[in-house]
Amino acid sequence: MVVGSLNVDHTLRVPRLPGPGETVTASRILTGFGGKGANQAVAAARAGGRVTMIGCVGRDDFGRLCLEALQAEGIDTSGISRSDVPTGSAFLAVDGAGENLIIVNPGANHAIAEADIERHAGVIRAADALVLQLECPLPVVRRAAEIARAAGVRVILNPSPLSDAFLADRFDVDVVIANEGEAARLAPDRDLRKARCRQLIITRGEEPTLSITAAGLREEAPPKVVPVDTVGAGDAFAGAYAVASSEGNDEAFAIAFANRAGALATLADGAQPSIPTRSAIEAFGRG
Ligand code: RIB
Repeated sequence: MVVGSLNVDHTLRVPRLPGPGETVTASRILTGFGGKGANQAVAAARAGGRVTMIGCVGRDDFGRLCLEALQAEGIDTSGISRSDVPTGSAFLAVDGAGENLIIVNPGANHAIAEADIERHAGVIRAADALVLQLECPLPVVRRAAEIARAAGVRVILNPSPLSDAFLADRFDVDVVIANEGEAARLAPDRDLRKARCRQLIITRGEEPTLSITAAGLREEAPPKVVPVDTVGAGDAFAGAYAVASSEGNDEAFAIAFANRAGALATLADGAQPSIPTRSAIEAFGRG
């Protein structure tokens, strides 16, 4: 189960990322499907999960196309409502090393309300795991987490984009998957109580992924790749991890599986197009 955002991504390839007040010239533009929620739903579906998504898109063509893209992945979109507010959009710049900067215009992602979550509470309660990010309004994300936890459903939060509002008003989840920058703000000393979770997973690009629980720290090195575009790599990790851990695999396996999904997602352009399938993840690294 994923509660989250759906965007149309407009990606510009640039020789280097612009600084404040600077103009750079792009070599090309790509338009594709994104949004952290939708990316994670696609990642979970391609990793072999049966996925339902709750979210909101506009009544515009972009909204229809976002829904069709998820349906083509076998994702149940009955929890995605339509709004008069335009579909969310993201404007991305990706440089020659695959690094990116992203500006998101939330649009319909902010038209979702707690009532939408209440309406789909039964589906949340029936899930093996609930995957959340922070591109939808905080009360919506919090309510989904509360319903899931009260029903014993494992809640996995990717606290991205990390906001001051969230830092000031955190809530309990089971697993937090954060990148290094987010983890430093959320739990500077890797303190699980500050992160309000039982497990904190820190993704660190080409450095080993860290998994911190009460039992201690585990490190799992990702495969070495030469990235083309890192957009969506964290989403690929989160979706693949949700599936691998929900299947009852041990932690080392689940993180290694997710590491491979994240690494593979850096090898092609765009967010959703680059997310690997289960067979690609399993084949990767076998030599
Ligand atoms: O995590 C990558 C995503 O962030 C992009 O697809 C963009 O839509 C933004 O939500």
